[in-house]
Amino acid sequence: MTKKVTKAVFPVAGLGTRSLPATKAVAKEMLPVVDKPLIQYAVEEAIAAGIDTMIFVTGRNKDSIPNHFDKSYELEKELEKSGKTELLKMLHELLPAHVSCVFVRQGQALGLGHAVHCAKPIVGDEPFAVILPDDLIEDGNRGCMKQMVELFEQQQCSILGVERVDPKETHKYGIVEHNETAPGVGQLKSIVEKPKPEVAPSNIAVVGRYVLTPAIFEKIETTGRGTGGEIQLTDAIAALMQDEQVLSYEFKGNRYDCGSKFGFLLANVEYGLLHPEIKAEFADYLKQRVEKI
Ligand code: G1P
Repeated sequence: MTKKVTKAVFPVAGLGTRSLPATKAVAKEMLPVVDKPLIQYAVEEAIAAGIDTMIFVTGRNKDSIPNHFDKSYELEKELEKSGKTELLKMLHELLPAHVSCVFVRQGQALGLGHAVHCAKPIVGDEPFAVILPDDLIEDGNRGCMKQMVELFEQQQCSILGVERVDPKETHKYGIVEHNETAPGVGQLKSIVEKPKPEVAPSNIAVVGRYVLTPAIFEKIETTGRGTGGEIQLTDAIAALMQDEQVLSYEFKGNRYDCGSKFGFLLANVEYGLLHPEIKAEFADYLKQRVEKI
């Protein structure tokens, strides 16, 4: 029987130190790109991929994430009273009725592998998606996860979203080596977490999109601490690869690393140029502004 991906895990317990001071009191996943928080983009991408159960692995000082997805009675009442029906409709659409949210706590920050493992009791024995909201991906279509879920439906195995990066930047990513089996699709041969450019097996980097089979949980349980003293998802994937096929997939679309100041700024410019309400005015402004540089 072919399996379907219906659950997505969002590891959102991280401190967001790269975005300080913005993230001192605000969850990094709540930083807005134009007018929507990063976590909302991530959830919309999962919904577009046909996923209906959102599992957030949260930590201290992240209450704004569940609050964002809860119904806000006071606000809705006010909007109703003042006849702001468009805004009310927009709020209702943030989370469609068929979608449910589950929150689990990662009591200790022990790494991405550990965070994903915290979702095990909710994921159970099913394939699932992992989306890191810092990596915002725009594909002009139904999203990167939709592309990956479609590939999963054919292949029924774990899939890692990958992108070629500047060879000088390999130390920021999980880096893979693969045998290309179809355009953009490769069979994983090796994966290593954050290698220095001198020892990196390639410049093909894992970005924050994964479809994983539940066998990953057992691998995380036996993975010791790796790079940075953390329980790395990358190391568990390296172990999984010994037992099962794992594919890499070069997604279509542009990725913005919103955990970095530069990436976050780029995302705001690009999404501003796409936003129906402001794109014309913003494009005009940019053209004039660039002339003065
Ligand atoms: C994590 C993963 C890394 C991956 C990256 C993608 O690293 O450990 O393998 O390439 O996400 O964004 P982090 O950025 O959390 O340090």
